Amino acid sequence: MSMLDETGLLAFPTDEETVRKNDMAHVLHSWAAQGHIDAVPIAGGEGAWFWDPNGRRYLDFSSQLVNVNIGYQHPRLVAAVQEQAGRMVTVSPAFANDARSEAARLIAELAPGDLDMVFFTSGGAEANEMAIRMARVHSGRHKILSAYRSYHGSTAGASALTGEPRRWATEPGMPGVARFWGPNLYRSPFHATTEQEECERALQHLRDTIVAEGSHTVAAVILETVVGTNGILVPPDGYLAGVRERRAVRGGTTHRGPSAWRPRHGLLHQRRRRGQRDGHPDGAGALRPAQDPGRLPQLPRVDSRSLGTDR
Ligand SMILES: Cc1ncc(COP(=O)(O)O)c(C=O)c1O
Repeated sequence: MSMLDETGLLAFPTDEETVRKNDMAHVLHSWAAQGHIDAVPIAGGEGAWFWDPNGRRYLDFSSQLVNVNIGYQHPRLVAAVQEQAGRMVTVSPAFANDARSEAARLIAELAPGDLDMVFFTSGGAEANEMAIRMARVHSGRHKILSAYRSYHGSTAGASALTGEPRRWATEPGMPGVARFWGPNLYRSPFHATTEQEECERALQHLRDTIVAEGSHTVAAVILETVVGTNGILVPPDGYLAGVRERRAVRGGTTHRGPSAWRPRHGLLHQRRRRGQRDGHPDGAGALRPAQDPGRLPQLPRVDSRSLGTDR
């Protein structure tokens, strides 16, 4: 049973046996057959190392989920979190906040071109969901093209975009997703024998898919720049540039950046960075401010009066 310590905080057992027992009894682990899990308890970490409750140390070559690649407990990060927690732990969307404004400014500084507005989310799947929504609203089109051998997250929309078996159990999912094969010379879907052939054939296949799907129905193409959990597939030279190049897809509308969203009115670029992360929940999409807001679709104004809910 948990108890409060002398400072009023929750004191909980940290010995290996109890941690394992509670984990097996109460923690549902994602993407795993629960009966086969024997999760190693982690008691702490520093730099590239973590250790279990008995002090056994592990050198973590995989940076957990490739998501703590600035290392565990980086002192500057810990200090920044402590400092911010002491000042302010939450802010609603309606307010401005110094830390959030500065984070957005720094992201805009790193984002390519004129992607100057940042929309914060709590993770990658949510960022992809927002990207789809914005692409659809601003292009007036509904279809999203997504590659086989891809992972885009586990929310309803993001799992519908996911091009591998983890999607199957959630089908039928969000409508309006069409799929294509990305390049992978090792198991070439195009019978290519060189990187260059694979690149050219994959681009031709994407063009053909867009034409066959009806280019006027395609709002966006979603791509991992380097396919992650489906095999760490680095695309051949020229593939992302070919996808990015509007002319590569006659009549197509989007893909002008890796993992990119630039709907017809040029609004949104969603991007997940794998570098310099610390494992905290995060996500963001960078957007270009509308050049000509008058050309964007006008959505009906709905307020509490029109819904009949004002009192
Ligand atoms: C390429 C890609 N997109 C989206 C996601 C989903 O991100 P999150 O788990 O933060 O929702 C992941 C997570 O691993 C990912 O690798």
